Amino acid sequence: MAEGFDFDVIVIGAGPGGYVAAIRAAQLGLKTACAESRETLGGTCLNVGCIPSKALLHASELFEEAHAGALAKFGIEIQGASLNLDQMHAEKAKAVKELTGGIEFLFKKNKVEWLKGQARFNDAHSLTVGDRTVTAKNIVIATGSSVTPLPGVTIDNRRIVDSTGALALPEVPKKLVVIGGGVIGLELGSVWRRLGAEVIVVEFLDEILPGMDAEVRKESAKIFKKQGFELRTGTKVTGAEASDTGVRLTVEPSKGGAAETLDADYVLVAIGRRPNVEGLGLDKIGLQQNNRGQVETDHDFRTRVDGVWAIGDVIPGPMLAHKAEDEGVAVAENIAGQTGIVNHAVIPSVVYTHPEIAGVGLTEEDARKEGEVKVGKFPFMANSRAKTNRDTDGFVKVIADAKSDRVLGVWIISSLAGTMIAQAAQAMEFGATSEDIAYTCHAHPTHSEALKEAAMAVQGKPIHI
Ligand code: FAD
Ligand code: NAI
Repeated sequence: MAEGFDFDVIVIGAGPGGYVAAIRAAQLGLKTACAESRETLGGTCLNVGCIPSKALLHASELFEEAHAGALAKFGIEIQGASLNLDQMHAEKAKAVKELTGGIEFLFKKNKVEWLKGQARFNDAHSLTVGDRTVTAKNIVIATGSSVTPLPGVTIDNRRIVDSTGALALPEVPKKLVVIGGGVIGLELGSVWRRLGAEVIVVEFLDEILPGMDAEVRKESAKIFKKQGFELRTGTKVTGAEASDTGVRLTVEPSKGGAAETLDADYVLVAIGRRPNVEGLGLDKIGLQQNNRGQVETDHDFRTRVDGVWAIGDVIPGPMLAHKAEDEGVAVAENIAGQTGIVNHAVIPSVVYTHPEIAGVGLTEEDARKEGEVKVGKFPFMANSRAKTNRDTDGFVKVIADAKSDRVLGVWIISSLAGTMIAQAAQAMEFGATSEDIAYTCHAHPTHSEALKEAAMAVQGKPIHI
């Protein structure tokens, strides 16, 4: 134990970054506490993010299959499948409760003390949490992020909701307008579309899913339109008027032009998230945020203030749970005097729609900016298992360096893309070439064979197309 302090480490925030950092620090023999102001542990991800959204995505997919007749072609005829939305929400809440309770159990098991309440700095080694003052040699800021507000569109979580509200709508909207064609908009838009809503996505840019490979963005848009989404790209919302029964939005082309109105019974605002630093007292320790409101760190997750570290959504980089978790392990190892590293070049991202959309590494556009590349593509239409399962939307795309053949990026649209991308991430972490993947034996018949064949296509010689 560090002399003169209550703890070796206090982590602020018990999301995937914070709770993982706290557990790892305790495992490494450090006396650890974690401050969390929510009633339950697990942060955004477990309470109002990854977990409840995936619960509704899974349930709504089952509903659509049963209700919309998708099973009939397999000889499964279901008449009168109907929706019990309360039960769907209840099952989601059960999953959340089990998982957040699981973190509480892990805290007890690893002797991490939960400091309940809002934490704020007194100085670099002292915090006030609720009515308690606590000190630590090291303090890790893992306060996460919250929804970015949209001026003129006030979230009331009745008719105009953020993602938390959209995870708990009391009824299926007749018409849902989603502002923002990013990950949240498409995942939660999918949930309510499958349950029967007409969904219109209003996206400021000319394409949905910014940051993803251009070809993937185009193909995804095609698939979403086929599913019944209306995608209004290149459009901005300039105002909203909510009543007890619905919302009237004013929209206009992003580049300027005539305004029009759009009526909906619910509106979801999903235009991004911003770091949580309000009320943290960063001024007390002389720590300034960058112009995006983030806390900057070096490669080891140290801030400019000695003894203060930061990880997860509050620092630069993709706002993803697995990125936060890996940073949580690394920061604890660095505090313990070990070498904790996160390779930020190989962080997969997945959109959990149907099909799923996943990528790791560089987009083709970014790879081309850095040098000559070779690209191999393979469509699921030519993959035997996907054909058998009647699940042929999408493709795999492998981008490799033209000279060294080293894999620079992999993009997958497929019902199993989220699972398949792990193989690509591992290959890239091991410095694989596309030839390495092409000559790795993949089980048949599996969707994963499409990755092998895309790698073969980089070499110019796939078998099945
Ligand atoms: P958070 O999870 O935000 O946790 C921070 C915690 O700190 C919060 O619990 C907060 O209450 C607490 N806190 C903040 N300030 C203080 C303070 N001063 N004192 C005490 N406690 C404080 N990512 C994925 O990788 N996969 C997904 O499928 C996915 N789905 C998502 C779906 C939705 C709807 C949303 C909104 C997000 C989703 N994300 C997903 C993103 C993911 O939730 C975040 O990247 C992740 O939670 C970040 O972890 P974190 O530990 O940095 O912060
Ligand atoms: P996002 O950054 O993914 O998408 C926001 C979208 O809104 C962008 O397409 C942007 O161009 C658009 N936009 C911005 N301002 C706009 C405006 N005024 N009008 C219309 N469109 C506008 O952000 P999102 O979807 O809110 O998600 C927040 C974060 O949560 C993401 O960074 C993501 O990483 C994380 N998340 C991850 C998930 C996953 O990993 N499956 C699931 C859900 C969220």
